[in-house]
Amino acid sequence: MAKSLKDKVYVLICWALMLMYSAAEREYFWQSSRLSWTGARNHCQVCFKELVTLTPENIQTITCKLTSGTLYWVGLRKNFSSTSNSTSMSWSRWANGDPLAFQNWYPGWPVFKSSFPKRDCCSCSCTCPTKTTSTMTSTTGFTEFMTPNVTGFSGLTEDPTGATENVNSFTDATDRNVPVTTLLPVEAACVRSPMLLPDVPDTDKNYIEDSCVAMLSFGAWVEKNCSELLPFICYEDRFIGQVNVANVTNESAVLTWLPGPGNISHYRLEVKDGKNLSENLTDLTYDLVDLTAGTKYFVQVFPVKCDRNLNPQEVAFYTTPNKVENLKVTKVTETSVSLSWNKAAGNVDFYLIQVKDEQIQNNTESKTEGIDVNNLIPGSLYTFTVKSGVQDKSRWSEESNITKYTKPAKVSNLMVSNNTNDSLQLSWMQPVGKVTGFRVVVRKARNASNDSIFLKVNETKVTVTGLPMGTEITLSVTALTNCTEEGDNVTVVSYTAPGPISNLNLFTTHDSLNATWMSPESDYSFFTVKLQLDGTDVKTISNVTEPEMRFDSLKSAANYTVIVYKVSGHLKGPPVESSNFTLPLPPTLGKVTSSGNQIMIEWNPPVNTSTVNYSVKISSSFWGHNLSDTVNNTNHTFSGLKSGTKYYYEVRTLAGVWSSTPLAGNQCTDAVKRDISLSMLCSSAEPLLCDHNSTKESVFVQLHAYFNKLLGDNIFWELTKQDTEN
Ligand SMILES: *[C@@H]1O[C@H](CO)[C@@H](O)[C@H](O)[C@H]1NC(C)=O
Ligand SMILES: *[C@@H]1O[C@H](CO)[C@@H](O)[C@H](O)[C@H]1NC(C)=O
Ligand SMILES: *[C@@H]1O[C@H](CO)[C@@H](O)[C@H](O)[C@H]1NC(C)=O
Ligand SMILES: *[C@@H]1O[C@H](CO)[C@@H](O)[C@H](O)[C@H]1NC(C)=O
Ligand SMILES: *[C@@H]1O[C@H](CO)[C@@H](O)[C@H](O)[C@H]1NC(C)=O
Ligand SMILES: *[C@@H]1O[C@H](CO)[C@@H](O)[C@H](O)[C@H]1NC(C)=O
Ligand SMILES: *[C@@H]1O[C@H](CO)[C@@H](O)[C@H](O)[C@H]1NC(C)=O
Ligand SMILES: *[C@@H]1O[C@H](CO)[C@@H](O)[C@H](O)[C@H]1NC(C)=O
Ligand SMILES: *[C@@H]1O[C@H](CO)[C@@H](O)[C@H](O)[C@H]1NC(C)=O
Ligand SMILES: *[C@@H]1O[C@H](CO)[C@@H](O)[C@H](O)[C@H]1NC(C)=O
Ligand SMILES: *[C@@H]1O[C@H](CO)[C@@H](O)[C@H](O)[C@H]1NC(C)=O
Ligand SMILES: *[C@@H]1O[C@H](CO)[C@@H](O)[C@H](O)[C@H]1NC(C)=O
Repeated sequence: MAKSLKDKVYVLICWALMLMYSAAEREYFWQSSRLSWTGARNHCQVCFKELVTLTPENIQTITCKLTSGTLYWVGLRKNFSSTSNSTSMSWSRWANGDPLAFQNWYPGWPVFKSSFPKRDCCSCSCTCPTKTTSTMTSTTGFTEFMTPNVTGFSGLTEDPTGATENVNSFTDATDRNVPVTTLLPVEAACVRSPMLLPDVPDTDKNYIEDSCVAMLSFGAWVEKNCSELLPFICYEDRFIGQVNVANVTNESAVLTWLPGPGNISHYRLEVKDGKNLSENLTDLTYDLVDLTAGTKYFVQVFPVKCDRNLNPQEVAFYTTPNKVENLKVTKVTETSVSLSWNKAAGNVDFYLIQVKDEQIQNNTESKTEGIDVNNLIPGSLYTFTVKSGVQDKSRWSEESNITKYTKPAKVSNLMVSNNTNDSLQLSWMQPVGKVTGFRVVVRKARNASNDSIFLKVNETKVTVTGLPMGTEITLSVTALTNCTEEGDNVTVVSYTAPGPISNLNLFTTHDSLNATWMSPESDYSFFTVKLQLDGTDVKTISNVTEPEMRFDSLKSAANYTVIVYKVSGHLKGPPVESSNFTLPLPPTLGKVTSSGNQIMIEWNPPVNTSTVNYSVKISSSFWGHNLSDTVNNTNHTFSGLKSGTKYYYEVRTLAGVWSSTPLAGNQCTDAVKRDISLSMLCSSAEPLLCDHNSTKESVFVQLHAYFNKLLGDNIFWELTKQDTEN
């Protein structure tokens, strides 16, 4: 237990050290099985790369895992006679061919066949203790040491297993007067070696002709007989490779990888995450099938050599996601389009929505199966493309696309002008966004929705003709794009102007006026009636629904004008006017006087009468005399009349063609009396008959009756009797 804990600590330290040297990417393998040096090398070549090559950098790493007191074969031997040319020197190369740039002999090693020859050889070689070059110098010197046949010293041969060796067992080796290269630093060796040249060239009993190098657990080297069975250390360069993924679809992928180094028995493929798979393969390729779309797979390929997994080649990849289904537009407004779709089979991490019009292209992402795309231009054609994507955006599904126009925007400032009896001019402002034209719907009457005019126009105004007079017209304008896609309509209500009324008739009495007329064809309208007198308005009545109007309490004999026009909405029809007089009333009597042959008549105007004329007449039927005049004042004098005559007069109020009933009467001119004598002789059988005031048969009575009949009261006359009794 304690030992394994110690091992763990070692492993931990070694691992830390290996991290430090990770740049070398060289891995070391401690093999506990005991083999001869050649067997060990062979095993290393088959299952790793070679026996270890030691360097100042790796020696610490390696030794820290060694079991203390154990010897290990390393990749160095005196001569590689079997593999190398005879020209190469001893101790010159490592098993992997690297030059021997570093030595770490335990004192007393290597062992030479005999002592140094009597040669002064070192005088020049030992005065230069520099660092890296000193190693080289030392090596050169070392080669020269090798040349003489020096017999080996007794060393470790007594203990062939090496298992019980310890540092102490080497201590006496330093006592021998042999030239040795010692542990670094090199300076010490350089100083001492020329001083201790032996004289006796005896063959050392520890000398091994074909020696191999074993390393002590603390790192120093000793020579051993190559056939000894020892544990050993192999190395291998860390294998670096990568799995390549090709032809990825939504359900398959082709994997390829690099061959591993050396004798790879097979490759172990492991697939994780979306699918668990483990396969032993000899090919360098594998077809993965039955994968799930849009899923991440983690692949490792371990080359296997002597049942050992080498560093795996790895790759992680996503399969292609499936494309979305049933992409459709659920709502369209002027500036937005709502899309929805069905999730594709397999896995999808998110969706990429591409919005494209003629110029711009925008990408947005969505986690859900739907999106509202906003800030669009009204009336424009957009293509919406939806792709499924995976987390790292490495793969995209096929596109699903749909094209759609946004709704055209509403027109603004819709106005009607120039209303006439049968036409209207409609104008508006171009809406924002794109518009290819407009549809204008004109509904001719409030309730007659089937009686409509449809127009397609490409300008922002239109004159609508052929409309009925005096009618409420409803006009709506809708913007179009692609000539088919409609926006929301904008509606305005207006009226055509009404036509003129006809047959305006005015019936008057002396204080009232009754106007009647005929209405033109139209549905929704009123009349306005104006009453004027002498050019000024007396009364205005709007909202008249029936085609007649009566005005009361008017002045008599006044020239009233009535103006009537039709009103539809804010529009007036042409006015029609007519004038008529109220009937006149007769004047009332003032005073009638006569003087001489004149008669002066004065009267009062009738009440509530505007300025009028009067017709004045005077006549005497006795004289066959007629006089008349028209005046605008309220008295008149007739002169040059017969005296003593009874004149009849008439005064009428005149109003237009109308005249009032007369104010009538008579008046006598002053009489200028003249006597006319008439003599009669009355003889009668009865005397009484001549008597003037007797019976009616009397002559006088009869005579009076006669005159009366002749003159009557037309003129002034008197009949008197003067009797003469003879
Ligand atoms: C040995 O030397 C010969 C020529 O001298 C050469 O062709 C050959 O490649 C050498 N072999 C090795 C292993 O160096
Ligand atoms: C080394 O010694 C061996 C026998 O021990 C001999 O065969 C060989 O020639 C000697 N070499 C030298 C360079 O002295
Ligand atoms: C991928 O597919 C193409 C065409 O089907 C084929 O030519 C190619 O060899 C494939 N690649 C791999 C690595 O299988
Ligand atoms: C792969 O080989 C190893 C031995 O190397 C074995 O344990 C494992 O069961 C094998 N796996 C498969 C899937 O054949
Ligand atoms: C839309 O999708 C159809 C097939 O679904 C394709 O033919 C067409 O080219 C796509 N249109 C655009 C604009 O991507
Ligand atoms: C009304 O019509 C007359 C001619 O018919 C035209 O001169 C005038 O400009 C029009 N008014 C408007 C506001 O369109
Ligand atoms: C409107 O349409 C008429 C034909 O219907 C065409 O002659 C005219 O050029 C168009 N005007 C505009 C501004 O498009
Ligand atoms: C545009 O109008 C034409 C016919 O005028 C029609 O065939 C087409 O489908 C319309 N385009 C769209 C996207 O509605
Ligand atoms: C105008 O729009 C309203 C409400 O959308 C609709 O009821 C009416 O029928 C439309 N009028 C016309 C003339 O299209
Ligand atoms: C006005 O005259 C018309 C036609 O003569 C008559 O029918 C109507 O009763 C009169 N109205 C009044 C108020 O006198
Ligand atoms: C017309 O009549 C309506 C109600 O019947 C009233 O509101 C309006 O003021 C009237 N117009 C005039 C000019 O008298
Ligand atoms: C009555 O008045 C109208 C309008 O003022 C005028 O045309 C007409 O001549 C007048 N009638 C008479 C008899 O004065």
